Amino acid sequence: MNWMELDQEYMMPTYNRLPITVAKGEGNYIIDENGKEYLDLFTGLAVNILGHSHPYLMKKLEEQQKQFLHVSNFFLNKPAITLAHRLIEHSVQGKVYFGNSGAEATEAAVKLIHKWTASQEETRQGIVVLKNSFHGRTLGVIRLTRQPGIYQDYPAADYPVYETEAEDLEALEEILKYKKPAALLMEPVLGSGGIMPLSKNFLQEAEKLCRHYNVLLCMDEIQTGMGRTGTLFAYQHAGVEPDIILFAKGIGGGLPLGGLIAKTGLDELFQPGDHGTTFGPSPLSAALGNAVLDVLMEQNGLEDGRENAKYLLRRLEDLQIRSDNKIKEIRGAGMMLGVLLDASGEEVKNLQQQLLKRGFMVNITQGTIIRLLPPLTLKKEETDAFILALEEELAARRGGVRTT
Ligand SMILES: Cc1ncc(COP(=O)(O)O)c(C=O)c1O
Repeated sequence: MNWMELDQEYMMPTYNRLPITVAKGEGNYIIDENGKEYLDLFTGLAVNILGHSHPYLMKKLEEQQKQFLHVSNFFLNKPAITLAHRLIEHSVQGKVYFGNSGAEATEAAVKLIHKWTASQEETRQGIVVLKNSFHGRTLGVIRLTRQPGIYQDYPAADYPVYETEAEDLEALEEILKYKKPAALLMEPVLGSGGIMPLSKNFLQEAEKLCRHYNVLLCMDEIQTGMGRTGTLFAYQHAGVEPDIILFAKGIGGGLPLGGLIAKTGLDELFQPGDHGTTFGPSPLSAALGNAVLDVLMEQNGLEDGRENAKYLLRRLEDLQIRSDNKIKEIRGAGMMLGVLLDASGEEVKNLQQQLLKRGFMVNITQGTIIRLLPPLTLKKEETDAFILALEEELAARRGGVRTT
């Protein structure tokens, strides 16, 4: 069976797929239908934060699937209530809304911000986002995604959107003061925008500006959350307190789950009928969400992830020193790293293919940045094997990255 051909015939070509037909996921590896193993340094775009088929997650999934798969939001959903409670315990006082994906989390935030606007005496409208941000692709939020590669010209929801540069506090203040937006929405580390961490100072000063001008501070933790950067949520590194926190990807442990946490004061703005979705959250996804939190917070997963990430960064930095300037920069936080190479997009793509042949899956973002999103469970020997492969591939290229 040629799955690539069938894919091309029957699936819409919304993604450029790599020619790997996945048969199984096991630990930190993906195994294809020919039995070839790939170290997964990409985790399905920042989803499989604990690798594949984690035994504890599988056990919890089985327990839940024996009980019920779906109940709708008209009944009490124990896994969901438990997860909401635990998310609150580990973030800000307030309440949780659940959906199924990242874009739905952003959609919910846009509606909640609108509700808040309507409750304020002074009219403040619209949302400020950073250049190169990614907050989803649905029509309600596509204008919040500020990337040239994402088609912006669809008919979209009509509310003011302001774009500003990361780290430019003066420009941000101008907008907050004169344009009177209702909210500032940021990824603490811009993900598909090129793995750009925001500085602690920028986050702290931005929070002060938000408080001063009565603007909601919203953090998109869809990619950075669930321990990916070393704390449960990345904003926690800066000690700020967001009004709204968006989550998705890693929290479902591989199943679709997303949503937001709204701080006290905002958490009663949605009333019955204001928002909702049939599945949000699937009891299965919520059960896995609880299992992910168990591993991270009670079984040392977060701590281990931090150690494993430190080791990966150290090995990459050592390689950069030896790389004869082929590695220009390494940036990011925890298990969310960008490796900037002195190479063209074509060359980086070729490097990705070579690494794939050697059994290492990496992602590319912004055309030339190797994006590493490894599981927190990445072992030292796996890091070593990847560094060796990367070093050999870079060495095979004279003054850059080879094109063949
Ligand atoms: C920071 C961020 N926000 C929102 C989204 C959208 O999430 P989804 O693809 O689940 O709709 C993504 C997805 O990559 C993301 O990285």
